[in-house]
Amino acid sequence: MDVAEALRILEQERARGLALIEEAASEADLEAAETAVLGRKAPVSEVQRALGTLSPEDKPAVGRAVNETFAALRQALAGRRQGLAAVAEEAMTRADRIDVTLPGRRPPPGALHPLTRTERRIVDVFSSLGYRVMEAPELDTDWYTFEALNIPPDHPARTMQDTVYVDVPGREDLVMRTQTSNQQVRSMETLDPPIYVVSPGRCFRRDTPDATHSPVFHQVEILAVDEGLSMADMKGTLEAFARAMFGPDQQVRLRPSYFPFVEPGAEVDVSCFVCGGSGCRVCGNGWIEIMGAGMVHPRVLENGGLDPERYTGFAAGMGVERVAMLRHAVPDIRLFLESDVRFLSQFVAGST
Ligand code: DAH
Repeated sequence: MDVAEALRILEQERARGLALIEEAASEADLEAAETAVLGRKAPVSEVQRALGTLSPEDKPAVGRAVNETFAALRQALAGRRQGLAAVAEEAMTRADRIDVTLPGRRPPPGALHPLTRTERRIVDVFSSLGYRVMEAPELDTDWYTFEALNIPPDHPARTMQDTVYVDVPGREDLVMRTQTSNQQVRSMETLDPPIYVVSPGRCFRRDTPDATHSPVFHQVEILAVDEGLSMADMKGTLEAFARAMFGPDQQVRLRPSYFPFVEPGAEVDVSCFVCGGSGCRVCGNGWIEIMGAGMVHPRVLENGGLDPERYTGFAAGMGVERVAMLRHAVPDIRLFLESDVRFLSQFVAGST
């Protein structure tokens, strides 16, 4: 190989290499070009290896030309490589680009469950009358749930039909409470009269679910014990409650009824808040039964450690589901438990 040929090869390889590098459309293309023009078998490498065969006068010029060719090709490679990387990055950011001027996607607002809202509303009314909130356990003893409330062992309320007994080794007296009335004797033991307590909570019965029954449901109980409380106080309190809860024109009607822990006992009706009392599809005859109530039985006061000669009291208990169903015209109690957003979202914007 003579000088002229070496220089010709170098020039030709530089042009070919630059073109290959320029055309490379991907990192793979670029690597192929690199091997072809800079690799061990590339013509420029062959010229470099042939340097030793040149005469000492010719060697420096050709050596310099080899170095320049290598340098030019490496520079072009590095430039192209950077260019390809920039293009790739640009494509990526375009794909995930966030348009910060778009309005955000608002997460749907959460809301309290309609039963929670109804329960809180009931409790609020009694709180504003001076009642203090106290809660009894959901798993309680037979004593507080039944026996202390004058419900004897053979009373239907505690038969296997509707009471969930709980198997705890060494204890045969534990039940899931069937009513929030289990707070009554606890309140008498904890507080000195005057006692004004409102007690909301979950209750359990071995019921088969249908449109009006659920094995898990909620009640709010009230208990008042003081000197000289009469049935007139009870009726006045329940009237104040009904008016605050359902409207200022509410009437309250008591019908004699039986609950073992009160005497006398009553079912409490309020005038229908749909038709106002004239009679409609919801109420039938203008009245809606809303709770049980009565004057605390002397035996229950005694079980709470209080002297029935000195103290009298009244108690009442209502179902939260029933009140919520009436207020919102909900036809089936199971809707409250199914967590179907189509049902629940109807209550998001409403008043409590
Ligand atoms: N605990 C009763 C029930 O679950 C409701 C009730 C009735 C509560 C009369 C009372 C009351 O405090 O006086 O059916």
